[in-house]
Amino acid sequence: MSLHIGVDVGGTKVLAAEVDPDGTVLRTARRSTPGRRVDTALVEQALTEAVAEVAGGRPVDGVGLAAAGFVDAAGERVMFAPHLPWQGEDVRARLEERWGTPVALDNDANCAVLAEATLGAGRGVADVVLVTMGTGIGGALVLDGRVRRGRNGMAGEFGHAQVVPEGRPCECGGAGCWEQYASGNALVRHARARIGAEPTVLEQACDGDPETLTGPMVTDAAVRGDRVALGAFASVGDWLGVGVANLVAALDPDLVVIGGGVSAAGDLLLEPARRALARSLVGAAHRDVPQVVRARFGPEAGVVGGAILARDAEHRAGRIW
Ligand code: BGC
Ligand code: NA
Ligand code: ZN
Repeated sequence: MSLHIGVDVGGTKVLAAEVDPDGTVLRTARRSTPGRRVDTALVEQALTEAVAEVAGGRPVDGVGLAAAGFVDAAGERVMFAPHLPWQGEDVRARLEERWGTPVALDNDANCAVLAEATLGAGRGVADVVLVTMGTGIGGALVLDGRVRRGRNGMAGEFGHAQVVPEGRPCECGGAGCWEQYASGNALVRHARARIGAEPTVLEQACDGDPETLTGPMVTDAAVRGDRVALGAFASVGDWLGVGVANLVAALDPDLVVIGGGVSAAGDLLLEPARRALARSLVGAAHRDVPQVVRARFGPEAGVVGGAILARDAEHRAGRIW
């Protein structure tokens, strides 16, 4: 059997996975992302380790990188990335040479939509908007069954649409970006601010140090009914729905798919988002409001899409199938 590895390079963690052709994740390895103000070599070292761990000494047929950043139209370079140190770097060729195996590259949300459109929630659907909620917000767009890339390859950067004039500063250099209000970072920030002000199991979860609080801790607490954690989900879910309403107003898609780490919380996130969509969408009473569903591959959509990209790249080069 051939070995294709997807690698999701996010702002918080790197996830590498061996994925079979029907999208089943067979083996994974994780590293934390070294940071966004570090030498790019540190990030590339983390990727190298994660890929080697998944390969476990077997020859690799291809790697697909799902990178949290602005990838050029050719799939060669990461031009800009709010949460990673890559700036205009020739990441694809560099890692291909280093690893001695074919490497393909795309934006993480574009990879997620590839997985969902071919094997997941968006299968057979003409027009799909996908939003990933992780460290930031990623976005991707399928119109008439094709992923749209735009002039620069940078279509779908919904997370940096300004929703609050002079709002919170964003890692992209702007202010008031959507991802400052609806993301894993926003979830943690919201919960952190309540620790000490209200009773919450999060206090023990983070050993009394709010700085160590993580998104998964907030999700666990919300599942257990913790009011502070539920409040954090109500807030980011509401902001998610407001932003989705703007996307639906612009694009009138058949379906909205939500992926990314925060989507692991399922309806805790999606229910407030659906309510906000119904409330905020222009002409809601006079139209079919699209369904908002969780990605079939949930937080793994990016890595599954990365592996599909690796297989497709080989396919296009006439190497397999
Ligand atoms: C980046 C996107 C990325 C998203 C999710 C955003 O801040 O601009 O390129 O897809 O985070 O990782
Ligand atoms: Na995108
Ligand atoms: Zn921004």
